[in-house]
Amino acid sequence: MKRLTLLALVLAAGAVSAAPKADAEKGKQVATTICAACHAADGNSGIATYPKLAGQAAAYIYGQTMAIKDGTRAHGAAGVMKPMVMNLSEQDIRDAAAYYAKQQGKPGEANPKENPELGAKIYRGGLSAKKLPACMSCHGPSGAGIPGGGTEIQAYPRLGGQHKAYVVEQMKAYQSGQRKNAIMADIANRLSEEELNAVANFIQGLH
Ligand code: HEC
Ligand code: HEC
Repeated sequence: MKRLTLLALVLAAGAVSAAPKADAEKGKQVATTICAACHAADGNSGIATYPKLAGQAAAYIYGQTMAIKDGTRAHGAAGVMKPMVMNLSEQDIRDAAAYYAKQQGKPGEANPKENPELGAKIYRGGLSAKKLPACMSCHGPSGAGIPGGGTEIQAYPRLGGQHKAYVVEQMKAYQSGQRKNAIMADIANRLSEEELNAVANFIQGLH
């Protein structure tokens, strides 16, 4: 029943990513020969420029990789990845996404000196004075995200354990409009620099 509902939602959104024929075994080959150079074979990249992909929603990995491939997502360091995925087929990308979605995410650690308390407060409760919703309401209490997303949304991506520097970069890209997403632009613009750093630090240790 749940599967059907999710499928219906994704189909309603017209996303090709709903194609249920992803092959995680074939995806492992693509991942280990191509993606692993930057994202690590198990998706737990140890370098902050390269986001962690382990346990990320398959539809989200697929969607973002396609966006980087076709140039719709070109801000930040996306140009580093583009030549590596340019010649992959949609099926290769779908398979690699299925493989990474199955990997176990390893949490990082929050820096105790960088205000994890404020970060936790924002993540779990938002800031009512600024009409900022809790990140948790869409990204989940442990940062696991919501794979199915909803209409027009590939997924509420997994955030738990993601590198702080990467989270900060993405939030700034939403603020400046370089990365386009109406929901996240509104949210990112409500955060001060201090609040953004605190919540990103908290996310790095979240699991
Ligand atoms: C040469 C290094 C490199 C390779 C190889 C590479 N990537 Fe990336 N990838 C990056 C960088 C850098 C970013 C961050 C871009 C940014 O700053 O926005 C990224 C971002 C992503 C994102 C967005 C993550 C998010 O949380 O939004 C996905 C998904 C992704 N890569 C998937 C893949 C897949 C799948 C492969 C293999 C088919 C791959 N990448 C190969 C460097 C690479
Ligand atoms: C109403 C739902 C909602 C809330 C609340 C929300 N997000 Fe998001 N978030 C999304 C969606 C949807 C996306 C995917 C957007 C896209 O495709 O670019 C996203 C994407 C992100 C990304 C990019 C992830 C990646 O891997 O590149 C970050 C970082 C992020 N959110 C952080 C936050 C933080 C921090 C908060 C709380 C201050 C928050 N979000 C609150 C819905 C939400």
